[in-house]
Amino acid sequence: MSTAIKDTKRITVKTLQTMADKGEKIAMITAYDYSMATLVDMAKADVVLVGDSAANVMAGYSTTLPITLNEMIYHASSVVRACKRALVVVDLPFGTYQGNSKEALCSAIRMMKETEANAVKIEGGEEILESVKRILSAGIPVMGHLGLTPQSINKFGSYAVRATSEQEAEKLVRDAHILEDAGCFSIVLEKVPSSLAARIAEELKIPVIGIGAGGGVDGQVLVLHDMLGITQEFSPRFLRRYLNLGEEITDAIGRYVNDVKTSDFPNQSEQY
Ligand code: KIV
Repeated sequence: MSTAIKDTKRITVKTLQTMADKGEKIAMITAYDYSMATLVDMAKADVVLVGDSAANVMAGYSTTLPITLNEMIYHASSVVRACKRALVVVDLPFGTYQGNSKEALCSAIRMMKETEANAVKIEGGEEILESVKRILSAGIPVMGHLGLTPQSINKFGSYAVRATSEQEAEKLVRDAHILEDAGCFSIVLEKVPSSLAARIAEELKIPVIGIGAGGGVDGQVLVLHDMLGITQEFSPRFLRRYLNLGEEITDAIGRYVNDVKTSDFPNQSEQY
């Protein structure tokens, strides 16, 4: 084992709690494959999320619903092989934990056994409480996910900001406490008003990670392909694009195609 790998200290769920307690922000980002996850880990992201957004960005589905447990296991095991430092959290996909808590536990155990990931993430509050408890009872850390929960898109009909009514906001606060009391190590809050997210982060002891939830939370998560500008069509207000990689990749490949067609590639020094 190289010294670099041996000396790399793995982030754990306890590290995240310590960071939140000290007010140190947590940086989480998605990855779905070995090459990208290697770069994300080298850039010192604290948490790598193998999100079921893989259904959108890797497979081209319009929702996250179609991706299967086997497909998520494939993505997660590739990411785990890449990450030496980051905590790797994996989404349990739609239909693998909502049916009953025994099925939820079986899905989580398969995920942990076959990928060696560090934790699972599941969407929902009170309605999935039994599943959360059962997974936790097997010693598997669970990250909750509230607010905009893309696996429920057919119930809500849009990806609009959630919890804008008082009633929905109160349910969100209640669900957040229920997940914390059950033993979740963290929750993601997606696309909710920043004042509400800040209130929840203030009330909860566990780290609250936001996406479109403002800066008053303990950390942020973005989808890798969105922040790198690989996906072009998705432009919500909360997304900060750090690169326009989609354009750069298309340009580079266009130049290669042109070089092949004009017989510029390969040249004398690029052959044997
Ligand atoms: O699947 C995903 O990428 C997610 C993040 C948007 C939080 O759940």
